[in-house]
Amino acid sequence: MIEKVKFGTAQMLSPTPVVLVGCAHRSLGRNVLTIAWTGVDCSDPPVVHVSIRPSRFSHRMIKESGCFTVNVPTREILKQVDLCGVVSGRDGDKFARAGLTPVDGSAVEAPIVAECPVNFECRVIQIVPLGVHDMFVGEIVGRSADARLVSNDRVDFSKVPLVVYVNGEYWSLGERIGAHGFSMR
Ligand SMILES: Cc1cc2nc3c(=O)[nH]c(=O)nc-3n(C[C@H](O)[C@H](O)[C@H](O)COP(=O)(O)O)c2cc1C
Repeated sequence: MIEKVKFGTAQMLSPTPVVLVGCAHRSLGRNVLTIAWTGVDCSDPPVVHVSIRPSRFSHRMIKESGCFTVNVPTREILKQVDLCGVVSGRDGDKFARAGLTPVDGSAVEAPIVAECPVNFECRVIQIVPLGVHDMFVGEIVGRSADARLVSNDRVDFSKVPLVVYVNGEYWSLGERIGAHGFSMR
C-alpha cells in the first residue's frame, strides 16, 4: 500500500494542457492569452472549456464576442506562450509583442495563431461562474491543422513537440507507452 498524506493545494491535478486562446472584440481589437485551466468536455457535440479570471482583458472580449479559439502550441514557441501569460493585451498589441501571427478564423470572429499547428474555433455555449474563474464552455465549430500532420482526418500528434503544464512548470512529453484498449488485447 502507498502511504498517503493530505496536502493543501486543491487544484493540483497535473498535467494540464497549456494553450493559446485567441479572441477579438469589435472595439477592443484582437488578443491572445495563455491558459492552463482547459480541457475537453464532450465528444458530440464537440465541446471544450477555458477557465478565465474576470480580471483578464480577454475575459470581457470573449464574453461580449461569444467566441474564442484554442491553439495548441509547441515547445519551439514556448517563450512566446509564457509571454502571452504574463503581459496583458491592455498594454498594447500582444500578438506583435510576442511575434505571433493572428489569422482570421473561418468559423468565428476570433483569430487563430498561425504558429500553432492545431487550432480550434469555438462558439461560447455557456459561461459558468465558478469562483475566481469563469468557465467558458465552447462548442468547436471549426478546426484546422498543419497539413503535414493530418492523415485520415486525424492529427498525428507524434510529430508535434507538445508542451504540458505541471505545477507552474512547462514539461515536454516522453514516448508513447500504450494505446486505448491495449489492456484487452
Ligand atoms: C502557463 C500559464 C497558464 C495560465 N493559465 C491561466 C488560466 O487558466 N486562466 C486565467 O485566467 N489565466 C491564466 N494565466 C494568466 C493569463 O494568461 C495572464 O494573466 C494574461 O496576461 C492575461 O492576458 P490578458 O489580460 O491580455 O487577457 C496563465 C498564465 C500562464 C503563464
